[in-house]
Amino acid sequence: MITVTVDLADRSYPIYIGDQLFSQADLLRRHIHGRQAMIVTNTTLAPLYLDSVKAMLDGVQVDEVILPDGESFKTLETVNLIFDALLGKGHNRTTTLIALGGGVIGDMCGFAAACYQRGVNFVQIPTTLLSQVDSSVGGKTGVNHPLGKNMIGAFYQPQAVLINTDTLATLPTRELSAGMAEVIKYGLIADKGFYRWIQQNIEALMSGDRALLAQAIQVSCECKADVVAKDEREGGLRAILNFGHTFGHAIESHQGYGSWLHGEAVGTGMLMAADYCARTGKLSESELVELKQLLIQAGLPVVPPADMSAEDFISRMSIDKKVLDGRIRLVLLECLGSAVVTSDIDRELLLETLAAGALEAY
Ligand code: NAD
Ligand code: GLY
Repeated sequence: MITVTVDLADRSYPIYIGDQLFSQADLLRRHIHGRQAMIVTNTTLAPLYLDSVKAMLDGVQVDEVILPDGESFKTLETVNLIFDALLGKGHNRTTTLIALGGGVIGDMCGFAAACYQRGVNFVQIPTTLLSQVDSSVGGKTGVNHPLGKNMIGAFYQPQAVLINTDTLATLPTRELSAGMAEVIKYGLIADKGFYRWIQQNIEALMSGDRALLAQAIQVSCECKADVVAKDEREGGLRAILNFGHTFGHAIESHQGYGSWLHGEAVGTGMLMAADYCARTGKLSESELVELKQLLIQAGLPVVPPADMSAEDFISRMSIDKKVLDGRIRLVLLECLGSAVVTSDIDRELLLETLAAGALEAY
């Protein structure tokens, strides 16, 4: 097992990464400070892993709330079901919420933990690759609003993140691809050597090689932990973690949450952002082609939805959380392995990128 630390002074916490972690009860037990725990999971995960996690909590009052599965249920109404369960079972301020699932469960459970009785402890047990490398780390929690994704939420850090890589065995391939988009993102924004390593190992990673996946999760978590430690509340630097997301969020919200997976939209969004960077001369043509090839090898879509016009993109991108004083801000690459956030956008080149997408011409 490997431990990566998110260094946030008195709110620092460990990320445990390894296989067979559900048989190491102490890893979870040591983060339960009261006598109650509420496992928050969904209808897909409960039959797979609920009993194993419950078995780690001997001696504690353990309750569960099993939510419907899907991005379309990432709403305030669903979070209210968590509050119903907590109040119904008499959970007090010393309870610990345990998120057992992907990013949807983690984001909602974390938000419920931030709000219940003005804040209770929570632990993340992420079960998708995407949640293991991204959403479970860093304390962004929340839900969607019909007018915008993740528009309601809180920064609220967990007590620990427990990544049992065994859970990837049941993950559908499409979800593995979605998580791989975020892994590739870390290489692009912060670590060219890691990017090259992913290129070399993409076939084995996608075939489910557990040792390589653990390595990819570790490097990704180290990268995210480093950024979060420097800029927890996204005053500046943390926004680089949103590379490709401004385009991606536009795709997700235009298509309706859940139609494109978050990671799929991010994959295509990264290619669109890279296309813009190539037009400004920051990336070479061959680097753009290589990225497209890598995304295809990772099983990700590389063409934006046919029914999305440039105007559709611009209007959706204009309600992104990074927008400042009415101006779109984008995360862009200075070169492979280095990203900046800027509102210095050449509108003509951006429109060229959006038009090229419609022509499937990246
Ligand atoms: P998800 O939570 O919807 O999970 C994907 C699907 O896989 C679901 O059907 C789920 O039930 C199933 N599943 C999960 N683990 C499984 C397993 N081990 N075996 C079989 N099936 C499994 O999707 P996701 O990609 O994990 O997360 C996407 C969400 O995360 C989005 O809502 C996005 O906004 C959010 N997100 C948040 C952050 C953050 O920093 N908080 C970062 C990135 C993404
Ligand atoms: N997923 C982006 C962030 O955590 O900031």
